Amino acid sequence: MNEQSLLDLLLSRDDYISGEELSKRLSISRTAVWKQINKLREQGYQFEAVSRRGYKLTYKPDRLHESLLLKALANVPLVKHVKLFGSIHSTQIEAQRLAEQGAPEGTLVIAEEQTAGKGRLGRKWHSPAGKGIWMSFVLRPLIALPYAPQLTLMMAVAVCRAIRSLTKLDVGIKWPNDLLINGRKISGILIESATEDERIRYCIVGIGIDANLDEEDYPEELRSVATSLKVESGQPIDRAELIGAVMKETESLYELYQQEGFAPIASLWEALSITLHQPVRIQAATDLIEGTAIGLHPSGALIVEDANGVRHTIFSADVQL
Ligand code: BTN
Repeated sequence: MNEQSLLDLLLSRDDYISGEELSKRLSISRTAVWKQINKLREQGYQFEAVSRRGYKLTYKPDRLHESLLLKALANVPLVKHVKLFGSIHSTQIEAQRLAEQGAPEGTLVIAEEQTAGKGRLGRKWHSPAGKGIWMSFVLRPLIALPYAPQLTLMMAVAVCRAIRSLTKLDVGIKWPNDLLINGRKISGILIESATEDERIRYCIVGIGIDANLDEEDYPEELRSVATSLKVESGQPIDRAELIGAVMKETESLYELYQQEGFAPIASLWEALSITLHQPVRIQAATDLIEGTAIGLHPSGALIVEDANGVRHTIFSADVQL
């Protein structure tokens, strides 16, 4: 028995639970219960201990805990397995390793810290310990490769809706899937697909959300372009709850996508977009395109009309608003 099972019991109760009951339920001695309570105290948990009534959990530290995650994900059947790491190079690489070994759709890898977080277009992703949501999961969609960008937009909608419902912050989507508040980036999504003969074997969906970073947690070069939910709302967010909300939104949108195709997802994306109908600058491989973002191509690509009325279909790029 470890402090995990004790914590599960304490979390399942809003009231006091006696040392005797804990020792009976866990089949350990009262001394062992006391030792485990002390171990949890060392990890930042706080208890009220009242004689003849027992213990009551009064504070849980902001640390992702397996039992809290499982509780938050209990009503999300899409999530089949959760692997939680303290520190890891990148959840993206770990999820990919698991997918290669046959891990099912819905295998979710979460880390408190990433030492080599990956961003889009070969960039690094700043992932300090205990401050954000750094997670990747496996999808095995039955779609042809050219449709993969549609999933990118679907995920932007899922994360945006989850953040909006928990924080009421005015988050918008910059094409394809950056989430911004007041012009600063709050979240990024990276989808990497493994293919075989134009068929998708699996996708790894990586989500980074700057949840509880403070200004000083950002390196100098990110301070003017990135922000966190905590900075914007003035209060920390329960990360396990947000992970649950993101996965719940993902599950319902993925179902909608599988049943009705991309059209309803595109409408939801458009409603949350801060790119559409705006002047944009796009550094494409060979030249700079300036124009107005006028709509989405059925593949999920962005259609930009330049000053001469020429329409450009952008499949992958960094859009400047
Ligand atoms: C972007 O550049 O906007 C995409 C950032 C994606 C970051 C997430 S954090 C979890 C997962 N693991 C990684 O290494 N990257 C993604």
